[in-house]
Amino acid sequence: MKFFLDTANLEEIREVASWGVLDGVTTNPSLCSKENIKFEDNIREICALVGGPVSAECVSLRSEEIVPEARALAKIASNVAVKIPVGLEGLKATKALAAEGISVNMTLVFSASQALLAAKAGAKFVSPFIGRLDDVSEDGMALIEEIVQVFENYRFGTEIIVASVRHPRHVVEAALLGADIATVPYAVMEKLVRHPLTDAGIERFLSDWKKVRK
Ligand code: E4P
Repeated sequence: MKFFLDTANLEEIREVASWGVLDGVTTNPSLCSKENIKFEDNIREICALVGGPVSAECVSLRSEEIVPEARALAKIASNVAVKIPVGLEGLKATKALAAEGISVNMTLVFSASQALLAAKAGAKFVSPFIGRLDDVSEDGMALIEEIVQVFENYRFGTEIIVASVRHPRHVVEAALLGADIATVPYAVMEKLVRHPLTDAGIERFLSDWKKVRK
């Protein structure tokens, strides 16, 4: 499973990159709005820190406008994946951009039918938002299960980015289902590695070590 960091914060990205487990980054307009840096400069700096794909989101709504906006974002660095919200205009733009070799991450996916159409249009990634589904009493992980099955049935190369991750169990369940990627906020990333029994075990070993005859 690949791990993307769901942030636009350079410090968080530097830190997780140093752990040796970072495969990419996803941003969105809300995450970028928290950073005190020009959007294009932020994406450029993130791309320089991360070897893998860095998602940068288009804000245009019509395909005629999405396509040039996406082309401009893709020019920032070779590892930019343009994020486009799923919809009829987004599908048209995805088809055109995929034909040009531009990686598209089709975002705001909330159904398997949306994911299927995104894959058919040529999206490199789809981003189902599981936390937001859970927030409205739906089952986000059931959606991942459906998309994994649909993509396997037809051998789509489109990769599933499990997005809107809220806690470590989301990551584990996504891994059990065979999702390609989880994009994880920094706070959840830290929680993935911690366990109170590990901390207690280290403490006990260190205190016993003091009693070892040297
Ligand atoms: C990533 O691609 C998404 O934009 C992000 O995971 C959304 O997360 P949220 O639902 O916590 O805003």
